[in-house]
Amino acid sequence: MKKNTINGVEPTSVPKHIGIIMDGNGRWAKKRLMPRSFGHRKGMERMIGLLEHAFDVGVDYVTVYALSTENLKRPQDELDGLYALIRKHFLENMKKVCARGARLKILGEISLLPPDIGALVKKAEEETSAYTGKGINVALGYGSRAEIVRAATEAMKRGETLTEESLSSLLDTGGQPDPDLIIRTGKEVRLSNFLLWQAAYAELYFSDKMFPEFSDADLDKAIEEFSRRTRRFGKTDEQCSTADGE
Ligand code: FPP
Repeated sequence: MKKNTINGVEPTSVPKHIGIIMDGNGRWAKKRLMPRSFGHRKGMERMIGLLEHAFDVGVDYVTVYALSTENLKRPQDELDGLYALIRKHFLENMKKVCARGARLKILGEISLLPPDIGALVKKAEEETSAYTGKGINVALGYGSRAEIVRAATEAMKRGETLTEESLSSLLDTGGQPDPDLIIRTGKEVRLSNFLLWQAAYAELYFSDKMFPEFSDADLDKAIEEFSRRTRRFGKTDEQCSTADGE
């Protein structure tokens, strides 16, 4: 796979896993006197472009927040528009990006979506299941609290003692590195039930841009800022500067 470098960023400082809260499609469209569905369409195009760019610059995992459990309460015509987008463009676009060696995983409760969408995304997951080491997670019908409850329920069913490791492994992202960087577009400064457990030590980056206008260069800027941050994981500066961190 072609790897581009971002000016001033060592390849080792590129986050392994980025989460993106793709907010602002509706406002972006409204400003252009267009329907919200137009914003979502542009958002889908931008999402694909950003996934490709992220892999080009050395990111291994990207999680995109496409539809939350709370979003499922939106007016039916908006939801129908999003489902139509998934039916028409999702599979073919995902196939194209995943061909770079990335495994597709849907986070969330597929049963909350129309059955044909569930079948379609399952098929896309299966088609990429042989890929390892890189991944695209699409959160659809996703809520972090519900995900944690599902994982804890599964552990109880198995009669397992809960540890941080066992719970992590039972989450929808089980087996993947936690996100290092979470980006939210659209001027809002909150996590909105996105990867709450996994984000324990993630760096957060908020952009005023609406998602359809968040460019590849904006992603580079976020990664650049990430590379300048000091991640201490609760330790002191001195501990972090010693070789073993003890
Ligand atoms: C939140 O912004 C965004 C969403 C509810 C949908 C995000 C969807 C995409 C980016 C593309 C579609 C991708 C898939 C897989 C369905 P908003 O539209 O609520 O914006 P607003 O806050 O300006 O109203």
